[in-house]
Amino acid sequence: MAKWVGGVETYLVASVTMSSTSTAQARVFSGIKPTGGVHLGNLLGALRNWVEDQYAHDAVYCVVDLHALTVPQDPAELRAATIELAHLLMAIGLDSELCTLFVQSHVPAHAELAWLMECTASFGELRRMTQFKDKSEGSEFVSAGLFTYPALMAADILLYDAERVPVGDDQRQHLELTRDVAIRFNSRYGDTFVVPEAAIPRAGARVMDLQEPTNKMSKSDDTSAGCIMLLDDLDSIEKKIKRAVTDTDSEVRFDIAGKPGVSNLLSILGAATGREPEEVAEGYSQYGPLKADTAEAVIEMLRPIQARFTELATDPGETARLLEVGADKARSMAHPVLARARQSIGLTAR
Ligand code: TYM
Repeated sequence: MAKWVGGVETYLVASVTMSSTSTAQARVFSGIKPTGGVHLGNLLGALRNWVEDQYAHDAVYCVVDLHALTVPQDPAELRAATIELAHLLMAIGLDSELCTLFVQSHVPAHAELAWLMECTASFGELRRMTQFKDKSEGSEFVSAGLFTYPALMAADILLYDAERVPVGDDQRQHLELTRDVAIRFNSRYGDTFVVPEAAIPRAGARVMDLQEPTNKMSKSDDTSAGCIMLLDDLDSIEKKIKRAVTDTDSEVRFDIAGKPGVSNLLSILGAATGREPEEVAEGYSQYGPLKADTAEAVIEMLRPIQARFTELATDPGETARLLEVGADKARSMAHPVLARARQSIGLTAR
C-alpha cells in the first residue's frame, strides 16, 4: 500500500501529563462515525493523518457505530454504512497489517468504560459542549446519548492508553474534556489513564462548506453542493468546486474573516498539495484559475481512492474478516486497561 504522498504536518495540542512525550511507537487512537458517508473535511482534517500515523506509531482506528446511535438510524442502512466505511478507510490507505482497524461495538469494553466516564465527567462539562448545543438545537427528539456522547468518546481514547489522537479542529473541545476527565480520574483514584493529546493538522483542520464557507463542511448538511463526498463522481466534484461561493471583490488573498470562500479554496488546495494557504495565494490573481487548480488537485487525490474502493467493495467478506481480526487485537489491548480502571475505582474483580 502506498504511503500518503503529500506528507501531513500536524501539531500537538496541549502537553502530556501521565505519559512521556510522544515516542516513535506512541499509541495513536481515532474514530469516525459510519453515517452519511465520508467527505473531504474528514479526509483532510483527520484520515490523511491516520494513514501517515500507521507507519510511525502503534495506530488503533475505530468505526464508531455506537456514536452513530445518538440519533435514530435505519438498522439496515447503519449495517451497510459500517462495512462501506471500512472499505473506504482501506481504500484511503489504512492497512490492517500496519494498524488495528475495528468496529466499536465489537469491543464491549467501550460501553462499559463509558459508564465510568459518565460518572467522572460533570453535567456542567457536558452541557458546555458546543457540538451538543449545535446538534440538539431545534431537534424534536434529543437522546440522552447525544448529551453523554463525549463520555463515550473519552472512553474510546482512554481504553487504549492513547497518547496521540489525530482529529480535525471540531473535536478539540471533546479532546480537552477527555484530558480533564482522565486527570480527574487519576487524581481521585490514582494513576490509571494516559492523558492524550489532540493531533490537529496545520492545513485542512477545518474544511468549510463550499456554499456557506462560514460553516464547516459537514455530512449532515442539506446543501450537498457545499460538501464534497469522497465517492462523488469526479465531474460533479469539479462542478461543486467551480460553483463554490467566492467573495465580492476579485482579489486572491488568505483572510478567513474577510474572504471565507476564497480562503477555504486556498486551504483545500494547500492541504492537497502540502503547502501553506498564504503561499498558495501568491500564485493567483483571479478566482477562475484557483478554482480550476483546486478541482484538479482534489480530483487527482480522490481518483485512486475511488478506484481502490471499487476493488475492495467486491469482497465484503474479506473486509468483515479483517475487522474481526482488528476487534480481537483491540479487545486484547482494551481489557487490561478496563481491568485497571475497575480496580482503581473500587469494583470487585471478576
Ligand atoms: P466525525 O465522524 O464527525 O468525523 C471524523 C473526523 O473528521 C474530522 N472532520 C473534519 N475535519 C476538517 N474539516 C471538517 N469540515 C471536518 N468534519 C469532520 C473530525 O474532526 C474527525 O476527526 N466524535 C468523533 C468520532 C469519535 C472519535 C473518538 C474521534 C468517536 N470517538 C475518539 C477521535 C477519538 C466524530 O464525530 O467524528
